[in-house]
Amino acid sequence: MIRIKAAGKTFRTGGRITVALSPVDLEIGNGEFVSLIGPSGCGKSTLLNMIAGIVPVSAGAIEHDARPIAGPNTQAGYMTQQDSLLPWRTASENIALPLVIRGVPKSAIVARVSQMLALVGLHNFGGHYPAELSGGMRKRVALAQCLAYNPGTLLLDEPFGALDAQLKLLMQAELMRIWESDRKTIVFVTHDLTEAITLSDRVVVFSSRPGRIKEIRRIDLPRPRDPLKIQFDAGFRELHQSLWDALAPEIELARNEALA
Ligand SMILES: Nc1ncnc2c1ncn2[C@@H]1O[C@H](COP(=O)(O)OP(=O)(O)OP(=O)(O)O)[C@@H](O)[C@H]1O
Ligand SMILES: [Mg+2]
Repeated sequence: MIRIKAAGKTFRTGGRITVALSPVDLEIGNGEFVSLIGPSGCGKSTLLNMIAGIVPVSAGAIEHDARPIAGPNTQAGYMTQQDSLLPWRTASENIALPLVIRGVPKSAIVARVSQMLALVGLHNFGGHYPAELSGGMRKRVALAQCLAYNPGTLLLDEPFGALDAQLKLLMQAELMRIWESDRKTIVFVTHDLTEAITLSDRVVVFSSRPGRIKEIRRIDLPRPRDPLKIQFDAGFRELHQSLWDALAPEIELARNEALA
């Protein structure tokens, strides 16, 4: 379980102080799929960075399986918002990296990498360097890298943001299939409310910066869910409307602040 206890973040860089995240309380159960949604700059990536242990909290605490996070969280696979692939390694070599670090035997690595490349539809691109891949392809390699060593928890920051509409639906279905078979804990950041509702057990709506939790909705639509068909379900539309009512004013506030 991930227990976020009044965790907040204030950045101090030079003379500038940015309150990125107000103290937030949230518990994410083992095997739960939780999406975070909120306007740009409200602290979603900052919260994932803190769960991943690469940015320290400046208030409160975060525990993963009852252990306080005080350094890189090795229990969680993290797909960051920015591309973190190494440009001098091929797609296959990037996917293999976490397995190499963990001392997995070479033959097992080769098999796993080819399985992961097939999973994300890139079996012919293993030998390509990141610069030779499209933005969406790089995102898929990063997802494959994250899944390759089978972590119990996945932190995914807008993983499907750069994908075209059809591929996005396919990847959503694939992620749900993986989640339903392995019951990983997933914390998923997205700007796409339809995606958040389709995938999640709960959707957490953040306010504009400094982000605080404005609303948490349980998504009790039956599973397995079909990402295309679910949008026409009456229960889905009701959830979408009520979550949009919470989200829209925050997006407007953030936009006004950006224009001010
Ligand atoms: N390392 C940093 N140093 C200083 N300020 C930072 C740093 N990282 C983030 N911030 C600030 O914290 C705030 C929240 O940023 P964050 O990246 O968490 O937002 P976000 O919700 O992920 O936005 P987006 O949806 O655009 O990705 C922003 O105002 C940002 O400028
Ligand atoms: Mg972000």
